[in-house]
Amino acid sequence: MTQNNKVLVVYFSRTGEQYSVGNIKEGNTAIVAKMIADKTGADLFEIKLANDTYPASYTALTKVAQQEKRANARPEVADKVSNFDDYGTVFIGCPNWWGDLPMAVYTFMEQYDWSGKKVAPFVTHEGSGLSSIPSSIKKTTKADVLNGFSLYGHEAQNERESAKLKVDAWLKKLGF
Ligand SMILES: Cc1cc2nc3c(=O)[nH]c(=O)nc-3n(C[C@H](O)[C@H](O)[C@H](O)COP(=O)(O)O)c2cc1C
Repeated sequence: MTQNNKVLVVYFSRTGEQYSVGNIKEGNTAIVAKMIADKTGADLFEIKLANDTYPASYTALTKVAQQEKRANARPEVADKVSNFDDYGTVFIGCPNWWGDLPMAVYTFMEQYDWSGKKVAPFVTHEGSGLSSIPSSIKKTTKADVLNGFSLYGHEAQNERESAKLKVDAWLKKLGF
């Protein structure tokens, strides 16, 4: 029997120019992902593009992302989680892009069998909150999707203490 009680935090996040925070060295969602992994003792996995040609400028990136969403694109991702079956709970984190997940997160989700897993969605945004991201995750993975968490990207970036308190409160509700 394989153990499947391990916890994994998967996230997609961008550096470069982001809305309301200027040029950042660590992505907003990455900051939250690391807080979750620290608190829960989870493994951390970053979804990276196989061929990352996304522009560093915010406005240019919004245009590329909009085109990808319209085309329902599946940008190729770089790596796979080798021991995916070991995980019972998977946190999936991403920025809210046009009310949706970045398309690369769909590419990621479609590569795995999620049956029997619990999925906890978390999102950073600049006003839209979770949008329909949890229901899109449910539709794609068919997993047991837990209550999601959203946080302003600029709060994750610039107000770490209050961000951490909110992250911890959410984790506590989930039983961590
Ligand atoms: C392509 C793109 C589209 C975005 N669309 C939205 C949106 O629809 N609603 C919203 O609240 N924020 C939107 N944002 C802002 C991001 O969700 C926010 O800045 C987020 O914290 C970025 O996280 P990251 O640094 O982890 O990539 C968008 C940002 C980008 C780059």
